[in-house]
Amino acid sequence: MTAFEQRVFSGVQPTGNLHLGNYLGAITRFVALQESYNCVYCVVDLHAITQDVGVWGGPETLRQSTRDVTAAFIAAGIDPEKHIVFNQSQVSAHAELAWVFNCVARMGWLNRMTQFKEKAGKHRENASVGLFAYPNLMAADILAYRATHVPVGEDQKQHLELTRDIAQKFNNDFAESIERVTGEEMFFPLTEPLIQGPATRVMSLRDGAKKMSKSDPSDASRINLTDDADLIAQKIRKAKTDPEPLPSEEAGLENRPEATNLVGIFAALAERSKGDVLAEFGGAQFSTFKTALAEISVERLAPIAAEMRRLNDDPAYIDSVLKRGADQARAIAGPVYDQVRDIVGLLR
Ligand code: TYM
Repeated sequence: MTAFEQRVFSGVQPTGNLHLGNYLGAITRFVALQESYNCVYCVVDLHAITQDVGVWGGPETLRQSTRDVTAAFIAAGIDPEKHIVFNQSQVSAHAELAWVFNCVARMGWLNRMTQFKEKAGKHRENASVGLFAYPNLMAADILAYRATHVPVGEDQKQHLELTRDIAQKFNNDFAESIERVTGEEMFFPLTEPLIQGPATRVMSLRDGAKKMSKSDPSDASRINLTDDADLIAQKIRKAKTDPEPLPSEEAGLENRPEATNLVGIFAALAERSKGDVLAEFGGAQFSTFKTALAEISVERLAPIAAEMRRLNDDPAYIDSVLKRGADQARAIAGPVYDQVRDIVGLLR
C-alpha cells in the first residue's frame, strides 16, 4: 500500500459575503487543523466563474471578493506564514489536472451531483459547461496536492465521494504506468472528508429546512461575517422558532429544526456540545436563549469583522500573501502534475 504524506486541503468560493455557515462549517475547522497538519487553503476563483457573471458580480467584484475571503481566513486565525494561502487561478496545475479529470470522470457520475441540479435549477440546458464539470476541478484542487484530508461542511460530501472515485479510476486505469513512473501502486490518495463539529450544516434563520447560503435572496436568513453587532442581534431576534421552550436533552430537539439549528450554532460558537448547551438552557424561553446567542455571536464575530476591515485597508499586503502562497503551492502541484503527464503519456 502506498503511504501518502498527510496534508489538508480546502477551498472557499469568492462569491458574495461569507456567512456563519462558512465560518462554523469550514473556516473554524481550517484553523483547528493547523496544529496537526500541513495545510493548503485556497480561494477558488475559477469555481466562482462557473455561475452567471451576474451571480459573481464581474471582474472588480471578483477581485474584491477574492481579497475578502483571504482577509477572512487570516482574520479567523489561519496563519499564512506557517501554511499555504492562495487563489486557485494563480496555479495553473489546477486547471490542467482538471482537464485530465474531465477525461477520467464519467458523465453519469456528474449527472448525479445534487449541487449541480440545485444550482442549474430548471434551466439545465443554460448552465455553463464549467458548472457541470465543477466537481472535476474540485478533485483537481485536492489531488494536485495529493491531500489526504479535506475539511468541509456537509453539503460538499458528495463532491468528495466523487474525488475518491476519480482518484481510484485514475489509479486503476494507469496502474502499470504509475508503477513504472513512481514505483508505487497508487498515485492519488483516497482523500478523507473531515465533516466535524456541531455545525456541519448551518440552516437558514428563516427556514430550518433550508441551508444557510450566500445565494438566499433574504439577507435575514444568514449572519454575514461582516454584519455589525446590531444587525446580528436583530437577525437572531427575528430568527424563526417554535412555541415550545427549549428541551433539556438533545433527544427533545427531534422534529424541531429551527431549535436544533440555533442550539447547534450556540454550541459551535461556544465550543461546547449541544447536550451541554441544553443542560444550561433547557426549559428556557427562546427570548432568553436568543439574547445569549446574540451575545456570543457578537463576541466571536466582531473581532473578525474588525480585523477583516483592517486587512482590507491594505490590499497590497493581501496580494503579497496570495502571491507567496501561490509560489509555495506551485512548488507542490507543479511536480505532481508533471508526474501525471508522465503517467498519462503527455510529452514534456
Ligand atoms: P463554498 O464556497 O460554497 O463554501 C465554503 C465552505 O463552507 C461550507 N458551508 C457550510 N457549512 C455549514 N453550513 C452551511 N450552511 C454551509 N454553507 C457552506 C462548505 O461546505 C464549504 O466547506 N465546492 C466548494 C469549494 C471548493 C472546495 C475545493 C472545498 C472548491 N474546491 C476543494 C474543498 C476542497 C464550495 O463551493 O464551497
